[in-house]
Amino acid sequence: MLTVSGLGKQYPGASRPLFSHLDLGVSAGEIVALLGESGTGKSTLLNCIAGLETADSGSVGIGPQGLDIVRLGETARAALRARCIGFVFQAFHVLPTLTVAQNVALPLLLSQVAADEHVGRTQALLERVGLAGFGGRWPASLSGGELQRVAIARALVHHPALILADEPTGNLDPRTADGILSLFLERVREQAAGALIVTHSQQVAQCCDRILTLTPDGLV
Ligand SMILES: Nc1ncnc2c1ncn2[C@@H]1O[C@H](COP(=O)(O)OP(=O)(O)O)[C@@H](O)[C@H]1O
Ligand SMILES: [Mg+2]
Repeated sequence: MLTVSGLGKQYPGASRPLFSHLDLGVSAGEIVALLGESGTGKSTLLNCIAGLETADSGSVGIGPQGLDIVRLGETARAALRARCIGFVFQAFHVLPTLTVAQNVALPLLLSQVAADEHVGRTQALLERVGLAGFGGRWPASLSGGELQRVAIARALVHHPALILADEPTGNLDPRTADGILSLFLERVREQAAGALIVTHSQQVAQCCDRILTLTPDGLV
């Protein structure tokens, strides 16, 4: 579901690349944990994989067809992202002017999922993340942990081939975090998706199929 080859990224002005010649694969049905100290470039790596930032070199194959997101133009890249990727951002990026349900349903509007399925799917996921009845609320009235769960529901609603999650359980208490992790595992196995999850939690990492650590010397 993900094939990263020879990926390199250095920000202008930085003394050295965050990563170079980085290779990484995630298979269908596999969850990979990505650990690493703060500032090593984990978020940058996820952004490069999703085509939200441009890598300096290398390729990023997405989904069963392995379409290289690096080589697509802006429109095709956005379309591939909308269809194949579910992204849980570190800072949630829940849109304040949409209700909770509208936020969750957003990827469906950009997908080929039939309109009559949108409400049902949205409600089912909100229930699954413990937010049944929150659909009509505004994000401003939600706690950090609740917003995080909105972001998680939104990343799963369109059944993406690849799930990228940046510290998705960072604001959740251990029990809620456990529930969210089971949801990820369930989705990934059921839909033969692949997932790459940045986490600082050993507990989360232990539930994954493989643990990688991003270091200044590369991926271990
Ligand atoms: N847009 C940017 N321009 C310049 N430097 C950046 C930018 N984004 C991140 N960085 C720097 O790159 C390094 C890695 O950041 P990040 O990917 O957020 O690390 P992590 O997620 O592992 O904590 C940090 O030193 C950060 O300051
Ligand atoms: Mg980060």
